[in-house]
Amino acid sequence: MVYYVRKGKVPEFRHTYDSRDSILKEELFGEESFDGPYSLLYHRTEPTRVVSIGGERKPEGAMGLTENRLHRHIKGFDLKPSGNYINGRVDLLVNSKLKIGMLKPEHNTGNLFRNAYYDEIFFIHEGSGKVTTPFGTLHYRKGDYLYIPKGTTYHMENGKKDAILYVLSRERISLPKRYLNVYGQLKEGTPFYSRDFVIPEFSETEKLDGDFTVYVEYDNEYMIEKRDRTPFDLAGWDGYLYPFTINVEKMAPIVGKLHQPPPVHENFSAQSFMIGAFLPRKFDFHPRSIPISYYHSNVDTDEFLFYSSGNFMSRKGISPESMTLHIRGLIHGPQPGAVENAIGKESTDEVAIMVEAYEPLKLTSAAIRLDDPGYMKSWVS
Ligand SMILES: [Fe+2]
Repeated sequence: MVYYVRKGKVPEFRHTYDSRDSILKEELFGEESFDGPYSLLYHRTEPTRVVSIGGERKPEGAMGLTENRLHRHIKGFDLKPSGNYINGRVDLLVNSKLKIGMLKPEHNTGNLFRNAYYDEIFFIHEGSGKVTTPFGTLHYRKGDYLYIPKGTTYHMENGKKDAILYVLSRERISLPKRYLNVYGQLKEGTPFYSRDFVIPEFSETEKLDGDFTVYVEYDNEYMIEKRDRTPFDLAGWDGYLYPFTINVEKMAPIVGKLHQPPPVHENFSAQSFMIGAFLPRKFDFHPRSIPISYYHSNVDTDEFLFYSSGNFMSRKGISPESMTLHIRGLIHGPQPGAVENAIGKESTDEVAIMVEAYEPLKLTSAAIRLDDPGYMKSWVS
């Protein structure tokens, strides 16, 4: 994140104590070794205290990946609820840096989770719930992006109707560099503002003792920690690295006289992909503008779209929770009649999340199960 936050009690100086009677246990929580963004967490118990640890492999089949040579329509709406926020995640598209999938949890669990390898972005398509972290509690709702930095121990309590898209990244996810001035502040003209980010509500946990199980995910394997103190034991914390939410309703889409390309809709980026949101907005105001996308060949990009709500004008046969994947090597664009139908339209109410991946995405077995086999022919019928 791009600004400093301080919550609860922290010592006057870093790496010191204020009182011999209550020495807090300081943890530096940082990315990119000691050079990236970080926070200082002040525990009331030793954060290294683990009573026992064991391993568990994820179910077979989770990594049955297929190289993809076609444009795809993956029917997310056919995915049935299953599992909990840890084991109910269904990976759909994967490359060496990225996992895109859906979570429709069937029930809650008391177990905690920590992702060892991946920064996590959840987009809340439907539902609402609560995430408890050492930094405090976040409540999420429809339209939120929920960001959780890798290495964060947390618990997610899902609502009954939760349907969540997730994008997990081995690379650090951050705000696009071009949105930041040299002082680290979001520039005027960026589609969102620092005030729009929701920071965890912090309060000290009263009861520290108990039985706590933490699933630490290492890609296809969990290490399972048993603890006798809560990991949510902080007296306070400060720094730049922490979970947050931001709702797409608060974003101000950039519009223009002519059709605006996807980079203006960018929200987050990493070295090998970007995440953007197509949001309700006025269309282009040239008198002869064509307000939907032209045909395009992104010759070194696989383009993923998750359709959340509204009217998706450039695509037929698409419903909420549809996902399309338009790949490099093949041209794509509006389906027959879409350009003619779009002319004269003044605005759109669509909400869709885009991921542009610079390394080819492979299909998981779940994606193949949800695949619409007629999609490639949708440009000729
Ligand atoms: Fe496209």
